[in-house]
This record gives sequence, C-alpha cells and structure tokens, in this order.
Amino acid sequence: MTANNLLPINCEILAITKTTAIENLYRVRFPHVDKVHNGQFLQLSVPGFGECAISITDFSVEEQWLEFLIRKVGLVTNQIFNLNVGDYLPMRGPYGKGFQIANYEGKHLAIVAGGSGLAPVRSLIKHFHANPQDLKSFELLLGFKDTDNVIFKSEIAEWEKQFPVIVTVDNPSGAPDEKTGLVTQYVSGLKTIKQDMNSVEVVIVGPPRMMEFTAKEFIKNGVPPEKIWVSFERRMSCAVGKCGHCRIDEVYVCLEGPVFNYAATAHLFD
Ligand SMILES: Cc1cc2nc3c(=O)[nH]c(=O)nc-3n(C[C@H](O)[C@H](O)[C@H](O)COP(=O)(O)OP(=O)(O)OC[C@H]3O[C@@H](n4cnc5c(N)ncnc54)[C@H](O)[C@@H]3O)c2cc1C
Ligand code: FES
Repeated sequence: MTANNLLPINCEILAITKTTAIENLYRVRFPHVDKVHNGQFLQLSVPGFGECAISITDFSVEEQWLEFLIRKVGLVTNQIFNLNVGDYLPMRGPYGKGFQIANYEGKHLAIVAGGSGLAPVRSLIKHFHANPQDLKSFELLLGFKDTDNVIFKSEIAEWEKQFPVIVTVDNPSGAPDEKTGLVTQYVSGLKTIKQDMNSVEVVIVGPPRMMEFTAKEFIKNGVPPEKIWVSFERRMSCAVGKCGHCRIDEVYVCLEGPVFNYAATAHLFD
C-alpha cells in the first residue's frame, strides 16, 4: 500500500509482451511489492483519462516488480496501450482481499479459469507449481474462446508437466487432441471431486455466468459451497469503500473481495 492509499505512485514499465490481439502483459517496477497478495488488484491511471482496476497476475518481492495482463477495451486501457517500456504508469494499491495461500495448503486444489480469468489466479498457480509439496493434489481446468485467445501458453505447457491441466476451447480449430466445449462439461471428470470433501478446495475465476454455472456443477458433484472460491470484477471507482460503485446489495467488492467464498456470495450472481 502506498503511504497515502489514494495517492498514485509512478511506476516504470520494465517490459511489455503482446499476449493476444487485444491483451498485453505489462511488467512494472513497484516499491511496495512486499505488501502484495495473490488475487489483489491496483487502480492504474492515465492522467486526463481516468483509472481502472487491474488484477495482479504475478509479482516478485526479490526483484520488486508486478505484472498485469491488460485487455484493451476502453478509455484508460486504450491509453495504456500507447505507453512504451521506460514510460511511467501511475497506480495506487494494492487493494482488496485476495487468495489466502494457507487456505489451500495441505488440500486437493482445483482451479478453473475462463479466458482472461486466468490472469488473477496465475500467481497462485505459479506459487503451487513452485511448491507442489504444499498440496495433496493440484489440477487445472482452463477454458478459452479459441486457440488464438489462449493466454500464457508456454507457462501452461510447463504446468502440465507437473500436474493435470485440461485446456478446452469454445470454437474448435480442428487440431488433433483438442478439447472443446465449456469447462462445466469437464467438472465431473476431475480427480478433485473424488476426494474426501474435507480436504478439497476449488477456485473459479472468469465471467460471472461461467463462475455461477461452474460452481453449480461442482456442487452437483458433491463439493460443498463453502469449499468454492470466486473472484468478482465489478466496476470500481475509489477502491477503498467510500463511493459505493462496486456495491452489490450490502457487499463492497473493493473491500470484502474481489475474492469471495461462494457459500456467502451465491446470491450476488442473481
Ligand atoms: C477487481 C478487478 C480486477 C480486474 N482485473 C483486470 C485485469 O487483470 N485485466 C483487465 O484487462 N481488466 C481487468 N479488470 C476490468 C477493468 O477494470 C475494466 O475493463 C475497465 O473498465 C477498463 O477501463 P477502460 O477505461 O479502459 O474501459 P472503459 O472505457 O471503462 O470500458 C470498459 C467496457 O465498458 C464498455 N463501455 C465503455 N463506455 C461505454 C458506454 N458509454 N456505454 C456502454 N459501454 C461502454 C466498453 O466497451 C468496455 O467493454 C478488472 C476489474 C476489477 C474490478
Ligand atoms: S469502489 Fe468505491 S466503494 Fe468500492
């Protein structure tokens, strides 16, 4: 957190990697990286244009950098795409409650991500990829629109050397061995749901409908709702619980989320 948690600090862009036609990966130098948790977000700003919330997709405390996967969709992100390595990007945060590593340690963990929903869980996946001894088992189920929209391909290839990874696409390319269809179709085949439910945890991140239907599929297959974690992307403004922009019913997503337990928040999907 910056000293004044509403005051942006200027962060130097260290690297930009084109990831898909409309997504770039940005690495920035960030002095307060020791305050960062998996699944949190920052408010990135472009003077004269505004701010937007972006999830931390990876970070290094030793090297003092954060990474963001940014999709070019509107006013602020269009401007960020005009920046180059060496330019400065103002940002404030980190904000929100992320994924609590301790909650998953010693468990059978399944992570399901849809499209760019992989970005907020990437640092969590990388943590357990580097520390496999901390889990009983680990598996990943990833859904994308088509092969051109698969993000972090080389990392997925590394992950699947260590634990089971299912990648499925909505629109088949015709490639041999390609899995197609929605992630919900693959839930009943996961090893995680065959385990003792006391030692199971499930993380689902993606568009709201995808999270809702995937959570319901896990519940249908015997996973208790309190074992399921989701991450909400709501429109943010202040990010510190003052403006009410992110509110769903009485819940302030910027303060209490973006990561929530499904049992407590299933009604927020309505
Ligand atoms: C906790 C959290 C984490 C997030 N993490 C990420 C992330 O990691 N990466 C990422 O890319 N995004 C992320 N987002 C989403 C990002 O904050 C939004 O996409 C943000 O709105 C982008 O800002 P912008 O100014 O570029 O786009 P905006 O100009 O706000 O446009 C956003 C969307 O609204 C539409 N829109 C804009 N103006 C109008 C209008 N007048 N009428 C109708 N529709 C309109 C646009 O077409 C676009 O689809 C996150 C959001 C939250 C809350
Ligand atoms: S974004 Fe202002 S209250 Fe949550």
